Amino acid sequence: MELFSEERSAEVVAASFVDTPDPRLNQLMTALTRHLHAFVKEVELTEDEWAFAVDYLTRTGQLCDDVRQEFILLSDVLGVSMLVETINHRTGGASTESTVLGPFHMVQSPPRALGDTIALDGKGEPCLVSGQVTGPDGEPLPGALVDVWQANEEGFYDVQQPGIQPENNLRALFTADEQGRFWFRSIVPRYYPIPDDGPVGQLLAATARHAYRPAHLHFIVTAPGYRPVTTHVFVADSPYLDSDAVFGVKESLVRDVPEVDDPARAAEVGLPNPFRTLTFDLTLRRLE
Ligand SMILES: [Fe+2]
Repeated sequence: MELFSEERSAEVVAASFVDTPDPRLNQLMTALTRHLHAFVKEVELTEDEWAFAVDYLTRTGQLCDDVRQEFILLSDVLGVSMLVETINHRTGGASTESTVLGPFHMVQSPPRALGDTIALDGKGEPCLVSGQVTGPDGEPLPGALVDVWQANEEGFYDVQQPGIQPENNLRALFTADEQGRFWFRSIVPRYYPIPDDGPVGQLLAATARHAYRPAHLHFIVTAPGYRPVTTHVFVADSPYLDSDAVFGVKESLVRDVPEVDDPARAAEVGLPNPFRTLTFDLTLRRLE
């Protein structure tokens, strides 16, 4: 075996993986070694910086439990989560673009009927959300399942405010009608900060970055025979659309949420007048 040297460090370590039985693991470890060593050489990492990094990753792990995943958050703010998501869900323009799942889909969404309200505490600016789920040729997907969850008008999910928000507030699982259509009553969500009281928050502060995500509703839409889509729809007039802390915004996912001032229409949909409307149609690809 070749002895370790500064010049050939990556090659020497990569060679130690040569007998890895799993070819994919071999590829991953070889490439990881190459990039890690190139990084250390490029910045000429000091021993203090190395020790800080070890301590930082240790603290990141120690903050993780059943409801807090600081490593995913770290991946999110480094753009790695979005990159993995984007590489694995290339649409070629043929379907609704995906974006990160995020950390707040931690409970099963309660089934509700089309037209129901998901704003159980009635707080916030009323909004009618509707759309149609279709396949790539525009064929409606009857019975498509539309799983939605969103933050309230103060930017918090129900699971972040137990005892303050009703359980299952602003969450639902809808079954689309025979035309693939869905509609429900909600409120306009607010932008919010990702949890910033841990190592990830320290990183953001040290690099003069903010922790905010622009206002959005989460969707997971599924239909038999089609590829599921995990995505958000973003509110067009929200702050932070151009600086999402986790890089989740795609232009195709931004929608205007115009106000409707029409007492008859408001009475028809069961909302106070005036109210806002958000239309989000989704297209799924066929499973190959
Ligand atoms: Fe979210």
